[in-house]
Amino acid sequence: MVQKKHLRKEILKRRDALPAREREVKSAQIARRFFALPEYDGTRAIFVYADFRSEVQTRGLMVQMVRDGRRLFASRTDPADRRLVLFEIDDPLRDLIPGYMGIPEPRGEASRAIALEEVDLVVTPAVGYDPSGNRLGYGGGYYDRLFEQLRADVPRIGFAFEAQIVRRIPAEAHDARIPLIVTEDRLIRT
Ligand SMILES: Nc1ncnc2c1ncn2[C@@H]1O[C@H](COP(=O)(O)OP(=O)(O)OP(=O)(O)O)[C@@H](O)[C@H]1O
Ligand SMILES: [Mg+2]
Repeated sequence: MVQKKHLRKEILKRRDALPAREREVKSAQIARRFFALPEYDGTRAIFVYADFRSEVQTRGLMVQMVRDGRRLFASRTDPADRRLVLFEIDDPLRDLIPGYMGIPEPRGEASRAIALEEVDLVVTPAVGYDPSGNRLGYGGGYYDRLFEQLRADVPRIGFAFEAQIVRRIPAEAHDARIPLIVTEDRLIRT
């Protein structure tokens, strides 16, 4: 979709332009908001994306989750199948290493395959969101496919900087909606 392609470029340019220090501070604000959510209470196992490039940073969040006694899942990209495969890791600072396209992924020796039914909550990255919960990803459809396979009641929480929120994302039938987006300034319940 040509529209999506243009929008991706534009939003990524804005996100990349945020100074590193600002991304760090805003990521910490997003993490604080996340831990105060009722959706976090009572979860046992969480899949969180491992941030790459200028995405909202999640390492500190992962460390806190493990401290809180949560099981932590991370994904490996399977480009042949266009799927994300999930693994459990114990130490987010040691067990994630650059993989496909340089994206951090669980180290083989330090991770265990899990079943998708074990996932209680997902924190998803994006290029951008609109206030209706439409999500623009990187164009592979990886998260769209993953959400189709998860239990329908699993909360999906999107992380984004305000710079990534746009008036409208052109959504297609296969695009998963995200009911809750957390930014440095607010919660967007869609
Ligand atoms: N659930 C699905 N089943 C089959 N094909 C899909 C599915 N979701 C997406 N696709 C295909 O994958 C391609 C990319 O999808 P899309 O443009 O929505 O990616 P995206 O949401 O931006 O990326 P991602 O989810 O990886 O962050 C499209 O050609 C689409 O037809
Ligand atoms: Mg999509």
